[in-house]
Amino acid sequence: MQRCVSRAFVSYLVTSSTRPPFFRSTCRGQVVPAPFKCNFLADMQIQHLEIHDLYQHWAEKYDEPNNPLVIAEEKVFKQIEIDLRGKKILDVGCGTGRHAIRMAEAGAEVTGIDFSSNMLEVAKRKSAGLNIKFVKADLKSIPVDELFDIVVCSLVLNHVENLQLAMKEISRHIKKGGMALISDMRSDNWSTARKKIQILPNITTYGFKHSQLDYRAAFGEAGLKSNRRRKIFLQDFPASGFGRRLLLKFFAAGYIYELTKL
Ligand SMILES: C[S@@+](CC[C@H](N)C(=O)[O-])C[C@H]1O[C@@H](n2cnc3c(N)ncnc32)[C@H](O)[C@@H]1O
Repeated sequence: MQRCVSRAFVSYLVTSSTRPPFFRSTCRGQVVPAPFKCNFLADMQIQHLEIHDLYQHWAEKYDEPNNPLVIAEEKVFKQIEIDLRGKKILDVGCGTGRHAIRMAEAGAEVTGIDFSSNMLEVAKRKSAGLNIKFVKADLKSIPVDELFDIVVCSLVLNHVENLQLAMKEISRHIKKGGMALISDMRSDNWSTARKKIQILPNITTYGFKHSQLDYRAAFGEAGLKSNRRRKIFLQDFPASGFGRRLLLKFFAAGYIYELTKL
C-alpha cells in the first residue's frame, strides 16, 4: 500500500503540471489516469522520447508557469543567502535559464551549459543584455576550461544515469572552498533504478533513481562535503483529498544540497 502511494505521488510530482484533475496510478511503469484500465494506453499513443529529444520538444513551453515542483524548488532556492555579486557561477543543465538569469541579475558572471539547443535558444532570448555565456554540451564532459565559485545543477540529475560521473564532472569545475548547489526530485522511493516517467500528457522519458545514499557516496567520491540538505515541499499546491494533502505536507518532493569543495 505504502509503495503504491509513493509511486502515485512521484507520478503526481512529475506530471502534475499537465495531468487531468483526478488521481493517477501507474501501469507498467507508465502513468495513467486512475479511472482507466491498462488498455487505455493502447488508445492514448504515448510516445517515448530520449531525454534530449523531450527537452528539444518542450523548450518553447517549458516556462509555462504551472509546474509545482519548479515553483516549490525556486522558493527554497531563494532562501539560500549568498552574495552573488562578482561570483563566477556555472549552471549545469541550465535549461531555459531560470536560475542563470536570476543569478546574473544579482550580479554574478554566469556560464550555463545544456545539451538541448532549443532550451538554450529560449534562455538566450530571455537573457539578452545580461552577463551570461551559454554553451551547448553534455554534462558528462563539460567543455569549459575554468574554475567557478559556485556550480548550480537544478532538477537535472534524475535524468542522468551515472550520478558519480556527473558529480565528479561538476566538482572538477569548482574552486577549492567553492560551493555546489544541487537540487533534484526525490526518487529514493522508486521501485526501479530506471523507470519511464510521464512528463508531458502523451510523452514519457527515462528517469533514474538516486537514493540519498547514492548522493552521499557520489558527493564523497567527488571531494564534496555536504553542509545542508533542504527539503522541497509542495505545501502551497492546492490538493484535493485529505490523503493527498497529507502527502504534500509531510513527504518531501525533492531536495537541495549545499556542498563545499574540499
Ligand atoms: C528539468 S530541466 C531543468 C532546467 C533548469 N535547470 C531549471 O531548473 O529550470 C532539465 C534540463 O537538463 C538538461 N539535461 C538533461 N540531461 C543533460 C545532460 N546529460 N547534459 C546536459 N544537459 C542535460 C535538459 O536539456 C534540461 O534543459
